Amino acid sequence: MACIFRKTIAAKLSKALQQPEELLLPALSAVPVFRKQRTPDFKLSVSLLRLNGILPKTGDIQLQTEDLTRQLIPDNVVEDISAGSGAVNFTINRKLLVQKLLEPFESESNTPFGLNSELLNTLKRGTTLVEYSSPNIAKKFHAGHLRSTIIGNFIANLKQALGNNVVRMNYLGDWGMQFGLLGAGFIQFGSHSKLKDNPLQHLFEVYVQVNREAEHNENLRQEARDFFRKLEEHDAEAVSLWQRFRDITVEEYQHVYKRLGVHFDVYSGESLHQSQALEVVQQLQSRGLLKTSDKGTGVVDLSSSGDMSNVCTVLRSDGTTLYITRDLAAAVDRKERYHFTEMIYVTDKSQANHFQQLFQILSASGHPWSESCRHVPFGLVKGMKTRTGEVVFLEDVLDEARTRMLHNMSRAQTTKELEDPEDTAEKVGIGALIVQDFKGPLESDYSFDWDRILQAQGDTGVFLQYTHARLCSLLQKNEDLEAAHFDASLLTEPSAISIVQHLLRYDEVLLQCSQDLQPKHLVNFLLKLCHLIAAAHRELPVKGSPVQVAQTRRRLFRGSCSVLADGMRLLGITPVDKM
Ligand code: ARG
Repeated sequence: MACIFRKTIAAKLSKALQQPEELLLPALSAVPVFRKQRTPDFKLSVSLLRLNGILPKTGDIQLQTEDLTRQLIPDNVVEDISAGSGAVNFTINRKLLVQKLLEPFESESNTPFGLNSELLNTLKRGTTLVEYSSPNIAKKFHAGHLRSTIIGNFIANLKQALGNNVVRMNYLGDWGMQFGLLGAGFIQFGSHSKLKDNPLQHLFEVYVQVNREAEHNENLRQEARDFFRKLEEHDAEAVSLWQRFRDITVEEYQHVYKRLGVHFDVYSGESLHQSQALEVVQQLQSRGLLKTSDKGTGVVDLSSSGDMSNVCTVLRSDGTTLYITRDLAAAVDRKERYHFTEMIYVTDKSQANHFQQLFQILSASGHPWSESCRHVPFGLVKGMKTRTGEVVFLEDVLDEARTRMLHNMSRAQTTKELEDPEDTAEKVGIGALIVQDFKGPLESDYSFDWDRILQAQGDTGVFLQYTHARLCSLLQKNEDLEAAHFDASLLTEPSAISIVQHLLRYDEVLLQCSQDLQPKHLVNFLLKLCHLIAAAHRELPVKGSPVQVAQTRRRLFRGSCSVLADGMRLLGITPVDKM
């Protein structure tokens, strides 16, 4: 497909510069499309060649560019080679460009577009463990957990599409003193039947109530401590109650994750690494890394000068472990169990320091693979509310998105023809949430606004879904035009060429996403694609055009639709065919 062009250009460059193609490819990129302006297809950045030591770093860059351009001879594939400012521009033969780009979209062809490109084939493959969502039992599922869920899902989808073996892990907050409170609280205020009917709600209520009571009730606080001690000592009765809380929570979550289109291979959690955490402390001690602080806690000195100016506590003075101690144990256990080549943690940025300390201690304890661990931090969401108030459960957000979208859709004529309008509204609503969340850099905070994210116009998830549905309808209405062959020379209009040129960038965009793990590159690529499709829709009618022209245009729309759908799925959005 498209990469044959990259390869042809790289071969030319390799000859002129006497350098292997692999070294030149990174400096070559598809040119972003500007509407109403003719652009070349590829450009070679001369400053990148200088940076990589392929061209001398000194000397006038423009002279170098012109000099290099003169050495490159056009042929019938690369028809035009010209010097731009600091870059060499390449234009491919139009017919060949259209032909090669639209060829993969033959009907029923299932090879995903762009994924076996030259560019992506250079990526190393292995096992990627992605840990995301990770809510805490009996506590709120807040916007941060929602962000972790959708971002982690995107990263897992992307890594998988790029040929890695992916382990999707949910690391539940299922241990700690809060279970002492929850256990003691449930014994006093809990109801087994309520727990059965509405587990998350009931656990949350009990948790809120026991926290309130415990503030002025020393007896209750003592009971909580006793309950937690029993848990740590594996008392059968305490463990069985705790297990029930956990099982029921996981079951409930699985249900809601399914609505969101998310799944996990493993439900892990802090509780699983309880005893290993104590072993980790012993190992730290035998390596001479464990120090005792003035307060009697066990700490690891992370300061560069070794003066204890920057320490991390791994053991409480009563000998119990902490969040980080369990994370240390969990990391070691995962490495042994899954032999991951990389591990990615997705949480809000307030935990950045936690993960830095985690990786540092792992490295100091002789685990060189700590280098392959990465934390993906994201910013805060302000003001995510539903009609009933603050978001407490994931389900609330999904319900709200569905109701609001259903309301918006009810104004459209086509909604009446939908088989399951609620399901469509849910998919469109979730898509809107995701696009809003992924549009900017992940580390930025943003304010949440239902009206804005659910707009049909503008750069929203609704716009992506709408464009997809519209393309599906166009393809379906012109099904009789489906043909194995199309005549590439019939597609010459600027709005058609722009789409084809834009598709040239797809693999580059995926590469960018896989490097910095930011979904914004793909989101913006798809939004732009939808704008280009809208223009083509206006300017390139299928119905009523001569058969061969209509066939070729239909192929263009088919290709656009397929890339749009693939891209949406990577983001975690289920494309709808009608809305
Ligand atoms: N349960 C934690 C929270 O809600 C997030 C866990 C993140 N993962 C980890 N390995 N520490 O804040």
